[in-house]
Amino acid sequence: MPKQRASWGTRIGLILAVAGNAIGLGNFLRFPVQAAQNGGGAFMIPYFTAFILLGIPLMWLEWAIGRHGGKYGHGSTPGMFDVLWKNKVAKYLGALGLWNSAVILIYYSYIESWTLGFSIFSALKLYFDETTFDGMRNFLQSYQGLVPGDHFDSILPAYVLMAVVLGLNFWILAQGLTKGIEKLAKIAMPALFLFAIVLVVRVFTLGTPDPSHPDWNVTNGLAFIWNPDFSQLSSAKVWLAAAGQIFFTLSVGMGSIQAYASYLREKDDIALSGLTTSATNEFAEVVLGGSIAIPVAVAFFGLAQTREIAAGGAFNLGFVSMPIIFTKIPVGPLFGTLWFLLLFFAGITSSVAMAQPVIAFLQDEFGVSHKKATMIVALVTLVCIQPVVFFLGQGFLDEMDFWAGTFGLAVFALVETLIFMWIFGADRAWAEIKLGADIRVPSIFKFILKYVTPLYLLFILAMWTFQQAVPTLLMKGVPQENQPSIWGSRALMAGLLVAFVVLIRFAWQRRDLRQRP
Ligand code: ALA
Repeated sequence: MPKQRASWGTRIGLILAVAGNAIGLGNFLRFPVQAAQNGGGAFMIPYFTAFILLGIPLMWLEWAIGRHGGKYGHGSTPGMFDVLWKNKVAKYLGALGLWNSAVILIYYSYIESWTLGFSIFSALKLYFDETTFDGMRNFLQSYQGLVPGDHFDSILPAYVLMAVVLGLNFWILAQGLTKGIEKLAKIAMPALFLFAIVLVVRVFTLGTPDPSHPDWNVTNGLAFIWNPDFSQLSSAKVWLAAAGQIFFTLSVGMGSIQAYASYLREKDDIALSGLTTSATNEFAEVVLGGSIAIPVAVAFFGLAQTREIAAGGAFNLGFVSMPIIFTKIPVGPLFGTLWFLLLFFAGITSSVAMAQPVIAFLQDEFGVSHKKATMIVALVTLVCIQPVVFFLGQGFLDEMDFWAGTFGLAVFALVETLIFMWIFGADRAWAEIKLGADIRVPSIFKFILKYVTPLYLLFILAMWTFQQAVPTLLMKGVPQENQPSIWGSRALMAGLLVAFVVLIRFAWQRRDLRQRP
């Protein structure tokens, strides 16, 4: 009989925790850039197609796999797959659900630490004498230790903040499910929505900040992000970007939704809860995330420059263009602090979720105490984050983001869909999803989950392999001097994967020994 497992305190706490897991930096930094780069309003067509055919079905599937695994005492995917599929390979396939979340945690928590840093810098007005793009970029890069700047003599402040943020994450995790994760979500999520709404209202009331440029205003900013450029729809790149964004933003394919769902009780609803958390994430992403960074950039810098900003990526938008704007508006330090705290709250409620699968794995499969498991994961994360900090400029982080944060999510989503819908069986899987449901789940989703989702995933993976994975693997266009760092990044990722496989083997050997009469 499995040991008594921890469980969520309240339903609202659970929903806030899973919404917190989903709502992250992806909503406020990654989404606006993806939308602006991929056809503006027209991006919404592939985006919502992916949401309906991949996002919602996978969310239900992951909640169902998690709750089912939890019933047998498993909070991570190796054990969950093992109960779904009586085959020796199943548990090893579950290693990906540890690996994806662990790798993403390693680089994500470093970015998260910048947001805390910049909220402090905003409050202290540390970057307020930089009003140009070059100047602000220099500030960011000097903080990251990439250029010897006038602002930071060394990488020490960034390093200390990274350590503080990791410490905070694991301190919260050490408090346990209800006193740690759930409590964090109950504080951080309402604060996040409040800050986002304050910022949206501020953006919408900006009018035309520079009268010499009457067309630089928020209306044109919203038009830029929402006016559809339908010619983009024929490009596979746009469809792939939309699917990638859906995975990342909903945290599907990571292993963390399953881990959270494993603490549900056997007949707790998952249908309505899964839908509510997905819808909350979409509201935060499309309505709030889409209304801040890009529209305000158009109001201050005009269309042409905003295009360049978006092309420069999410860090450029969040940590360069936004700070410049805060230097230009009344009570800028306050709005700057709010923006970066919003990002920090979004980040931390996601990063604690990424650590949970490995913690649960050590606890459930090795019988390690919760505190000890948390401590082990904290130490390993601290070790693995070192090269991310010191080789940031040489592509270490980006390599991890592609393999785990993009490619890995789709691979794992395909694996879990095949195991649940085809091996465990569509009828049983469907019954599991509907068990205890507080809504009627449209039966079309059974068909979607069985056929459409895996085919869609196969298509995406084939396209990615062809368009991005092969060139990435061969380091096309990577400067010679960055290649050792990329190899290092790959070695770290490969090492982690091997470590998980070996640990799974040990855990099951240990279990078999114990079960022998
Ligand atoms: N879902 C999380 C985010 O959007 C990882 O940032």
